[in-house]
Amino acid sequence: MSQINKIAVIGAGNMGSGIAQKIAQEGLSVVLVDIKEEFVERGINIIRQTLKEAVERKILSSEQVHDILSHIIGTCDFEMVADADLVIEAVFEDKQVKFDLFEKLDRICSEKTILATNTSSFYVHEFAQKTSRPDRFVGLHYFYHPAKNRLLEVIPHEKTSAETLEKSLLVAKLHAKTAIVVKDAPGFAVNRFFVPFLNEAARMLEEGAADIATLEEAAKQAFKIGMGPFELMNVTGIPIAVHSSTTLRNELGPFYATADIIKAQMEKNENWDLSGDVDESKIPAARDRFYGVCLGVAAALVDEGVASIEDTDRGAKIGLRWLMGPFEIMNKIGIAKTYEVVEAITRKYPDFKMPKVLAKQNEIGQPFAFNYVDLEIKGAIAYITINRPEAMNALNETVVAQLTRRFEEAEKNPDVRTIVLQGAGKAFVAGADIKYFVDKIKADKIADIAEFTRKGHELFLKIENSEKLTIALLDGLSLGGGSELALACQAVIATPAGSMGFPETGIGIFPGLGGMPRLARHVGPELAKYYVFTGSPISADDAHKLGIVTRLVAPAEVASAINELASKGKADKYRQREIPEQFKPLAQLCSSENVTRLLAGKLPEGVPDELAAKIAKFIGYKAPLALKIANEIIDDQVGKSMTEAVEIELGRLSDIFSTADALEGLSSFGRKKPEYKGS
Ligand SMILES: NC(=O)c1ccc[n+]([C@@H]2O[C@H](COP(=O)([O-])OP(=O)(O)OC[C@H]3O[C@@H](n4cnc5c(N)ncnc54)[C@H](O)[C@@H]3O)[C@@H](O)[C@H]2O)c1
Repeated sequence: MSQINKIAVIGAGNMGSGIAQKIAQEGLSVVLVDIKEEFVERGINIIRQTLKEAVERKILSSEQVHDILSHIIGTCDFEMVADADLVIEAVFEDKQVKFDLFEKLDRICSEKTILATNTSSFYVHEFAQKTSRPDRFVGLHYFYHPAKNRLLEVIPHEKTSAETLEKSLLVAKLHAKTAIVVKDAPGFAVNRFFVPFLNEAARMLEEGAADIATLEEAAKQAFKIGMGPFELMNVTGIPIAVHSSTTLRNELGPFYATADIIKAQMEKNENWDLSGDVDESKIPAARDRFYGVCLGVAAALVDEGVASIEDTDRGAKIGLRWLMGPFEIMNKIGIAKTYEVVEAITRKYPDFKMPKVLAKQNEIGQPFAFNYVDLEIKGAIAYITINRPEAMNALNETVVAQLTRRFEEAEKNPDVRTIVLQGAGKAFVAGADIKYFVDKIKADKIADIAEFTRKGHELFLKIENSEKLTIALLDGLSLGGGSELALACQAVIATPAGSMGFPETGIGIFPGLGGMPRLARHVGPELAKYYVFTGSPISADDAHKLGIVTRLVAPAEVASAINELASKGKADKYRQREIPEQFKPLAQLCSSENVTRLLAGKLPEGVPDELAAKIAKFIGYKAPLALKIANEIIDDQVGKSMTEAVEIELGRLSDIFSTADALEGLSSFGRKKPEYKGS
């Protein structure tokens, strides 16, 4: 697959400027086009302003802003996009304007150029048909603010080629978007239930079911969101709500028709007045109406094959910032209750029918089961994707069980010679679910943690010893169990965004999925101890220098690196190697004498003072017992087979999880600084 070198965005308005900003922010060059110089300038100024705010909030430095702006070329010259690999249209939501634009782009652009529309309310195929390249045409639907909201709906229409879809997903990845693939259907996935959510709020107001303040509160409670439907309409513009519901109504029927009260508010050209007291007694009924509509529509879109249940949930969580997706909410409130609230909606609006997927689930009487691990086989290469980007692909019992099944499936397939493991979205795998550990410790079920860990080890050993070549694609952050998964693979391909890290001793435990012996085999026990004791991240570059990463490549070169390793076949990942000079002082910090000193609270010797002070400070934040046990395990594992090393780790698992410090460290995570007692 050819590289993505040049991206262009047409329309420097609210969306276009934000899309260009995000592309530039991820280090790619972008051309931003509008019809007049002043509009281009306005777009660039919107970007400058957003970046200025990011500097004020210390999210970006002035140097980074300078660098980002240097990646953006603003112009009115359409010829500048002629050789782009991808052109993203973000002009007015006006069919004729878009028709004319795509005809023009089709004329100007080279054969290879993919054209994309960011339309919110029209079909993608309508615009594709206006070009001579429907196979190289796709929908890319961003969410406001496109530089901040990670969700991207990728919408192939009937004639979009597989290669175009693949390139679109690559572009999504290159500018750090979480892509969900959605059918070319009215409202795509997210607006399909979001717009009726706004509309139903207005209908309830119209009927006098509750006032605005109460409806706002009911919605906030139902979906655990910061803004209710009326505030959201105030922020995004009431005309947009009217426009989107009109389109849905025209395509899908009267259930979606705009509430009169919204049209009236638009005509008044006023925002909704959010003031007033909440009437608690009316909240349960309002909440059920919100659930009935949103959950019912979410189920309907899944019935129609618009998106999977997992992607629908992802859309809500990432795009709308709901705490849970519609299907997770259905499981939480119960399928029977969901059926009941949706049935009430079908009675109220006869053209809205009970979705089959919900009726079936109600019959079975079981919650929905989610798929978090995907397997795709392309020729001799199997791609296993941990697809839980909303939780940075964290490992839990379900994910490990599904990963095991997918891996076994790929292994059994005689056509497959290489298995690539990757994470969806920005991260590879950010460790294991910490809440799982906390819940198990509190429930006095440490045996379950041991069982979960044993299963993880079994899978990782299979990955390490597979007859097929196993490759980790480390193109984002990995921590703990995620880094251990990457280490278990026979080869690692990383991009500069990839990293490893072992923060466990900081949260009262030790890396429990074979990270210690595998790291020690790569770089020796001293350096392994350094990373385990300090939790210092190992950048992709460092991991490459240390020989842990097999290939370090730019994001756009990942596919060719996979093919290259696949064609070469297996190599000995633990081959003998010399540790580069720059890492030797770090190993020296954790020589056996220095470890004894460090664990006794003394400074290490034979290293520069500054380094000695730094490690002592780092180690001061860690759980002392976790350090002690990790040290003993790494020593015990030297010279043992990997299976024996794993048993050594498993043998110490209940020792560590039954400490008070483990509970303190794990339950403080993300909330407060843990206070370790050494017990
Ligand atoms: N605003 C949102 O929340 C949102 C979300 C997702 C998608 N969208 C879609 O994004 C698109 C743009 O929306 P927006 O809110 O950024 O609009 P906007 O009015 O802020 O910006 C549109 C820009 O396009 C320019 N433009 C118009 N015709 C052009 C042409 N022929 N060539 C080049 N530039 C042209 C205008 O000068 C203007 O700068 C619409 O299709 C909209 O439906 C909007």
